[in-house]
Amino acid sequence: MTAYDVIVIGGGPGGYVSAIRCAQLGLKTACVEGREALGGTCLNVGCIPSKALLHASHQLHEAQHNFTKMGLMGKSPSVDWKQMQAYKQDVIEGNTKGIEFLFKKNKVDWIKGWGSIPAAGKVQVGDDTYDTKNIIIASGSVPSSLPGIEIDEEVVVTSTGALSLPKIPKKMTVIGAGVIGLELGSVYARLGSEVTVVEFLDAITPGMDGEVQKTFQRILKKQGINFVMGAAVQSVERLKTKAKVNYKLRKDDSDHQIDADVVLVATGRKPYTDGLGLEALGVALSERGQIKTDAHWQTNVAGIYAIGDAIDGPMLAHKAEDEGIAAAECIAGKHGHVNYDVIPGVIYTHPEVANVGKTEEQLKAEGRAYKAGKFMFMGNGRAKANFAADGFVKILADAETDRILGAHIIGPSAGDLIHEICVAMEFGASAQDITLTCHAHPTYSEAVREAAMACGDGAIHA
Ligand code: FAD
Ligand code: NAI
Repeated sequence: MTAYDVIVIGGGPGGYVSAIRCAQLGLKTACVEGREALGGTCLNVGCIPSKALLHASHQLHEAQHNFTKMGLMGKSPSVDWKQMQAYKQDVIEGNTKGIEFLFKKNKVDWIKGWGSIPAAGKVQVGDDTYDTKNIIIASGSVPSSLPGIEIDEEVVVTSTGALSLPKIPKKMTVIGAGVIGLELGSVYARLGSEVTVVEFLDAITPGMDGEVQKTFQRILKKQGINFVMGAAVQSVERLKTKAKVNYKLRKDDSDHQIDADVVLVATGRKPYTDGLGLEALGVALSERGQIKTDAHWQTNVAGIYAIGDAIDGPMLAHKAEDEGIAAAECIAGKHGHVNYDVIPGVIYTHPEVANVGKTEEQLKAEGRAYKAGKFMFMGNGRAKANFAADGFVKILADAETDRILGAHIIGPSAGDLIHEICVAMEFGASAQDITLTCHAHPTYSEAVREAAMACGDGAIHA
């Protein structure tokens, strides 16, 4: 058997990126992946297919709601669900085949099958055992359900089932107003389903800036999504072709029910480490089942590293990728680094929602003096022309030094706009640095500059 410098277990965004970087740094590398295709959760049943359905359903929404306003007359398109699914599948395959190509180009061996670690320095796949100096575990995560709920991926589904439903449901109940619930809830609401989101807390998207949460929920309501807030789901009963969600309202402990053709359980994800043999190896896990790592992504067992959804931190593809690169650099004797204070989060609804750094709530809790500069997209010419003027940019900066501490955007292309702030934060920039940078007109990015201006002498178009 070939001996490797590094074997990466898992071919998701953490694993495949790490394997490519290891190879680029001159390490003989293999990646073990048990799925039929590379790309992990993200490319196969996560980021990519969900964005394809968000894109297609948004085009329908535009045709139904905005075309005639621009003089584009005629009937709006009808939905061919089979074709939309085929489009989604094409997008997935285009991306996963791309990773196969990159593996070949970089001379990374794909070992097909499920890997385990019989001992440090050894990876077993089927009947074969491979010797390796280092192992990077990038085994990712799986949906976590609630007690009293049995997932059948037909009527009671996780995101995986929701991405491939046989037909568009008339009624969909979503449990959890987090990222998955709101992205996929938006898809089906746009496609004509009656969508109700049942959420335990009193605000949607926990952890997000409070002002954004309120605006976001208002906009989603306007788009036809119903919300039941402060509701603890107790159980889901599968009926013949439907399901019934039983929940208690937390304010008065009253019992309620809601039935639906499809129930999407979107209550979070948990690390996946089954079958790796970590217990026998003595690899330490946290109480939540995450693999514990040090500042170099190494576990308590020398030569075994871990990255991505399987370890602590936000379960995001770009966070997994950054850790993958950094772990590869550490193994190659370089100085791998991830700045956990500047990891953007994006929700790809319409409008998009994006954030980086601290929220106002966090800054208040820390007792930190800050200023908030806010600019509404209503004052942005491009947004108005594109029927995208709902929302705002908010920049939070230190009251004394003007250094940017965080930014929160709800509005058009928020997921792209946020990166101007990410770069600024990496450079330790002040709000004034953004103000002093010329921004092209007419672009959405002018709203970012205006929010920065609002941290100083004032925005112009407010
Ligand atoms: P994964 O992508 O989960 O990959 C792990 C891989 O390891 C899997 O392919 C698995 O088969 C394999 N594996 C596990 N154990 C073994 C073993 N023993 N042997 C061999 N192979 C093994 N994040 C974003 O940043 N942006 C988004 O827009 C976004 N959208 C999402 C939408 C949905 C519906 C979902 C579910 C998730 C989304 N995410 C998004 C989250 C993102 O998918 C994850 O954060 C990301 O995939 C984590 O990467 P990873 O490499 O750590 O793990
Ligand atoms: P989440 O953690 O974002 O949201 C789960 C929601 O379910 C929370 O609001 C929680 O309060 C609620 N909940 C929990 N128990 C409940 C109960 N008993 N009754 C009612 N509500 C309950 O998890 P989600 O949406 O499943 O996403 C999982 C992960 O996938 C996230 O960590 C996210 O980072 C990642 N993801 C990222 C995307 C992106 O970056 N655009 C897109 C989709 C997923």
